[in-house]
This record gives sequence, C-alpha cells and structure tokens, in this order.
Amino acid sequence: MQSPERLVVVLGTGGTIAGTAADAGDNVGYTAAQIGIAQLVAAIPPLAGVPIECEQVAQLDSKDMDHATWQHLAQRAAYHLGRENVCGVVVTHGTDTMEETAYFLQRVLAPAKPLVLTGAMRPATSLQADGPQNLLDAVAVAREPGARGVTVVFAGTVHGASDARKVHPYRLDAFSSGDAGPIAYAEEGRLRRLRDWPQSDPLGLDAIAGDPATWPRVEIVMSHAGASGAVVDALVASGVKGLVVAGTGNGKVHRELQAALDRAQASGVRVERATRCATGAIVALSDADAPAESAALSPAQARIALLLELLAARS
Ligand code: SIN
Repeated sequence: MQSPERLVVVLGTGGTIAGTAADAGDNVGYTAAQIGIAQLVAAIPPLAGVPIECEQVAQLDSKDMDHATWQHLAQRAAYHLGRENVCGVVVTHGTDTMEETAYFLQRVLAPAKPLVLTGAMRPATSLQADGPQNLLDAVAVAREPGARGVTVVFAGTVHGASDARKVHPYRLDAFSSGDAGPIAYAEEGRLRRLRDWPQSDPLGLDAIAGDPATWPRVEIVMSHAGASGAVVDALVASGVKGLVVAGTGNGKVHRELQAALDRAQASGVRVERATRCATGAIVALSDADAPAESAALSPAQARIALLLELLAARS
C-alpha cells in the first residue's frame, strides 16, 4: 500500500500538452488548452497506481499567461504543498512562457518540496505526442525523496527554474539550462542527479497580494541596429514603472535607446539590463560594477525580478 505522504497534486493550466488537432499528423495547426487535466493524467497507464489528485487552475495557451493566473497558481500550489500528505506538485503548462512561470514560482514560493513544471511540444492528438512521457517524468521528480524547489522537466531533463530557457520552437527537446547545465536526467522513472535542487529565500504570497490589475507595469525593450528611443518615450508617457532592456552582447545598448532610457530613469522609471544572448550572463566591467541579479536572467525573467522588486517597494 502507498504511504499517504506520497500524494502528488497535478495542477493543469493548458498548453500544447492539453492541445488537440483534427489530424494526428498535424503538429503545428492545433489548438492548445482543450483537454482537462484529469483526462490527461488518466490517459497515462503507468500513473494508474500512483496517488494523484488533479485540479484545473486555468486552461490557456501560455502565450496569453497573465499576472492574475500567476497569482492564482501560486496560491493553489502553496496550498497543496502545505498539505502534509502531499510530497510534490506538478504543473502542466504551455512551453512558450514556462520559464517565466517557473522563475516567478521559485521567487515567490521557493518550496521545500518539489514543484515541477512540464508540458509538451506536440498536442495530445499527435502521432508523436510527448506530453505523457513528460508528465510521467514530472511525477517521478515530484515523488523523488529530497527533491525541492521549482524545476522544469522536459524531454527527460530536469532544469532549474532560473536556468530553464525554451531554445527551440519545434523540436521535442526544446529546453536548455544553458551554461548552468541540467539538475538531473529522468531515466525510466529514476533520476540521475548532477547538481543541487534550486534553493532561494521565498518572498511569500504576501509579496504578490492585491489586485494584479494594479501591479506596476514593467515592459521589455530590445536594443538592435537602428534602434531609436521612440518606444521607451511612448512607454514612459503611458505610465510604465519599470523597463528591462535586452541589450546586445554583454548588455550593451544603442546610443539612441540609451538616451531614452536615461530620460526614463530621470523621470523615476526603474531600468534594468539583461542580455539578448541566449545563454551566459552579463560580465561586470570591474568588481565595483557588480552585475545586477538580472545579469544571468533572460529578459523575460529579469522583467519578473523587477516586477517583484517594485511590488515590494510598494508595500
Ligand atoms: C503554449 O505555450 O501554451 C503553446 C505552445 C506549447 O505549449 O508548446
């Protein structure tokens, strides 16, 4: 008989893993977020004997992920992780913004139990559906003794929340941990661990309390050849509170854009730098010029870091 302490809760939020297409050979012309989480779990025979509870938290294409859904998801994950008989929580999620949700949940909850995000690159109706194996691997991580923190489990690889990046729009092995390397590989239900689980101090749910519609607006702008300051000026005029600039190379910014960012900063808007390079972190010019926390984050994750900072400053 299974120990009652080994219950896994699976929270569904939609994505391609819950997607359907009219034709089993169609891997791009499908509709995401169509199948309920209980039905997805029930379709995986090896999970039949595993104590699992399902909850549908949202049902969306993750390109449309929003702050209200993040707040609700964090609250539901925290609730289930706090239950004594729950050993871990899995979140099924679209791949497009999975790295953002993973980073958000790690910063807010940094749980002492595993909180595992997974999804799929092929819809559930596909001849090549990868969702069932990814979900099976995610449940294995959620049940792994000693596992903790937020991870992304995809194509047999376990990525840390801050390191995970979607690096390919089509291939099944769409995620990478970049320079950091993966935490573990999931192989036939067993984990081959390479390094430590994610650990950080949680901000707590209070940090994201209040109506998300009132959260400070933080946007991303990108530096590129021929850049101007027009977008930044328009964002400032529209009331933006924070800006992340995705700089070229080592976080460099076109002079026209930089001039607009300087104007924004002078008017009270917070400005942070990230790099638009796919991997690596911004390297400081000197010890005195210590890189900000956003230096090693993707621009999308740096946006979340700044949002959380502005929320903290507000309270
Ligand atoms: C989504 O992000 O919801 C759609 C794409 C995917 O899950 O791969």
